[in-house]
Amino acid sequence: MSSAFAPGKVILFGEHAVVYGRPALAIPLPQIGVTVSIEIVQSSQSSPEQEISLTNNWKERVSIEAPAIGRAGSLASFSKLQKPDPLALTIEKTLEVLNGTLPYFLNISITSTIPVASGFGSGAAVTVALVRALTSSLGKSISDEKVNQIAFEIEKLYHGTPSGIDNTVITYANPVYFKKNSPIQIFQVQSPFTLVIADSGVEAATHESVGDVRALWLVDPKRYEAIFTEIGSLVDQARDAIQNGDIESLGAFMNQNHILLREISVSSPLLDRLVLTACTNGALGAKLSGGGRGGNIIALAEPKKAEFIKSSLYSAGAKSVMITTVE
Ligand code: PMV
Repeated sequence: MSSAFAPGKVILFGEHAVVYGRPALAIPLPQIGVTVSIEIVQSSQSSPEQEISLTNNWKERVSIEAPAIGRAGSLASFSKLQKPDPLALTIEKTLEVLNGTLPYFLNISITSTIPVASGFGSGAAVTVALVRALTSSLGKSISDEKVNQIAFEIEKLYHGTPSGIDNTVITYANPVYFKKNSPIQIFQVQSPFTLVIADSGVEAATHESVGDVRALWLVDPKRYEAIFTEIGSLVDQARDAIQNGDIESLGAFMNQNHILLREISVSSPLLDRLVLTACTNGALGAKLSGGGRGGNIIALAEPKKAEFIKSSLYSAGAKSVMITTVE
């Protein structure tokens, strides 16, 4: 049995603008994540000669048990419904990179503690964990760069035009300063800071909010480019603040980033309420995180105030709230 874990993630600053070439900051969230376990099954019917070649009904011999993402049964049964199937494509791309074939039969179990469609990177985490578990079950190794490339290809199925930030932060499992088509930069956190992360419980498809922002940008590119540039400048200032341990300024940058995200239409009354609740109950700043419309908000808190902010967020309608220290 081979297993691999991939963490969830949150975007600290720069979502949406990152699709238009501005930088963004994101961190992994190892408190939640996806575990993929793969068992190579040797049955009386199987022998090395019966290797599953990708041209030989291979999907029927791969069994998936993944209640968290609504999958159970053979890979073939689902692939008939959704084309292309992200799990099947992940396996195909991994085998392509490894130059391998699938021996015997595979039982794949996927468990996840990441809420789906909530801005925590559930899709990218499934892909990254699956690529790594499959690679080790075949006794091979794969570079982070290749894992990231495969995960980016699969993100395109989920999001249409992803920037690549989700797959990158989840593959490298480190805080990243991300800019499309630029080398990955892992950033240092000078002094640890505490985040209260509240899930609104509202599932929202990132490709929809990204598509809506694109429609607005097409109508008035000058205005939206200016907003994206403002967001990009906040990202750079926030990175400096994190690297210098200037946590007070970081809170103010979050508030400003949230206002700009409202301006591009990706907030919602519930997200605004959660942000306001966090701020009026002692947070140093707060903003929505990820695609928006639903999903989660993040609030920066002094450690001693975090529990109080957490309970105020529950009272304001959050479905689940976690406290994490970024170090
Ligand atoms: O997957 P989410 O909801 O965290 O959103 C990703 C961030 C966006 O900037 C909205 C989209 C992207 O591809 O960067």
